[in-house]
Amino acid sequence: MDRFLIRGGNPLKGKIRVSGAKNAVLPLFAATLLADGPCTISNVPRLRDVTTMVRVLETLGAKAEWLEPDTIRIDGTGVTNLEAPYDLVKTMRASFIVLGPLVAKHGYARVALPGGCAIGVRQVDLHLKGLQAMGATIEMGEGYIAARASKLHGGLVYLDFPSVGATENLMLAASLTQGVTVIENAAMEPEISDLARLLISMGARVKGAGSKVIEVHGVEKLQGAQHRVIPDRIEAGTFMIAAAITGGHLTVEEAPIDMLESLTAKLLETGASIYIGDGSVEVTGPRTIRAVNLTTQPHPGYPTDLQAPFMAYLALAKGTSLVTETIFENRFMHVAELRRMGADIQVQSARGALVNGTTHLSGAPVMASDLRAGAALVLAALAAQGESDISRIYHIDRGYERIDSKLRGVGADIERVQ
Ligand code: EPZ
Repeated sequence: MDRFLIRGGNPLKGKIRVSGAKNAVLPLFAATLLADGPCTISNVPRLRDVTTMVRVLETLGAKAEWLEPDTIRIDGTGVTNLEAPYDLVKTMRASFIVLGPLVAKHGYARVALPGGCAIGVRQVDLHLKGLQAMGATIEMGEGYIAARASKLHGGLVYLDFPSVGATENLMLAASLTQGVTVIENAAMEPEISDLARLLISMGARVKGAGSKVIEVHGVEKLQGAQHRVIPDRIEAGTFMIAAAITGGHLTVEEAPIDMLESLTAKLLETGASIYIGDGSVEVTGPRTIRAVNLTTQPHPGYPTDLQAPFMAYLALAKGTSLVTETIFENRFMHVAELRRMGADIQVQSARGALVNGTTHLSGAPVMASDLRAGAALVLAALAAQGESDISRIYHIDRGYERIDSKLRGVGADIERVQ
């Protein structure tokens, strides 16, 4: 298993480029299952989760071909197998998203129940409730969920929580369904709007994506289309925090700054300087980091995926910060590892942690427990005195494309070792 050796203390300087968004690509790939022809998707990051999603689609019978390093053509017309097996779904929960498109197009799908993961239980009840409102019958057994409908119909779906995955699954299903579907209290994340853009290019009639109410007028057929994936706002945010925590100066190219207003506001509160250019953002770290409170919320609130990275930064602030996590019930696993590096953080409940800033962190052997917890450890290690040895970096590789070489390009002393 690979590890990162990071010798901290170098202020990062220079230009760093953001890749396509992992969390946009996965539902876009699922959308290709709806088309009667191939879809070409560009600006695709080469990540473990992307490879897993390609394997899911191929298992179903779709054909996938890389045309360029970041461009893939997927043809879902040959799908004959309507089952996504446990072996694949257990490695990536997001593959559950094939349920909606498969049942809409083929009348049936059987997908392994994704189960929990390190950051929480992560139920799928809202996905199922929505499909039932559209006429699907749901059966559960032997660790699988089967959805059946000779023909789905439009429905009114109210989501008790604006779940990103449920909103996407239902938009996908509704696009190829007779009648009008209205999703209320829908997620407003930018990845939802990106999915709507591809669906519309395929011939779907989707209105309101990016707002609380999404209306989908189902159509009978969808065609193949071309699409460029939006930049990864979480990767961009991680690099912005990297500039701030190392007291450096980074130009983050392709940063989707309009999707990162909550992070920008928080970084400014800590004393960082931010200059928004044309398609890029420059971040300069503050001399003294001011403590700030932070609460994660659905978009446009502060993103849960940048909670752990920001906590690493606050560990070096002057004063005490309160970090509140409202989206997932177990997303403080980085705390124990940050404490190993000298951070003074107390988890008060599953939802709240108090961060008492310290003057410095020290390098230590630490372990990534999930993707964003791993990113937090990388940031802490970049700012720490001495060497850190981060294990289980396969979590980090799920969502950050070549993070080591990108960071090396702006002055980080980071090495991937086996
Ligand atoms: C997406 O997960 C992202 N993943 C996550 O990114 C991200 O943290 C999350 O949205 C929130 O922004 C992808 O897009 C592939 P949710 P998703 O459904 O769709 C509860 C990363 O590090 N819930 O909005 O699974 C659920 O338990 C990751 O890149 C239900 O109760 O998130 C959770 O507490 C991790 N019932 C909350 O809602 C449901 O049916 C948010 O989940 C669905 C969700």
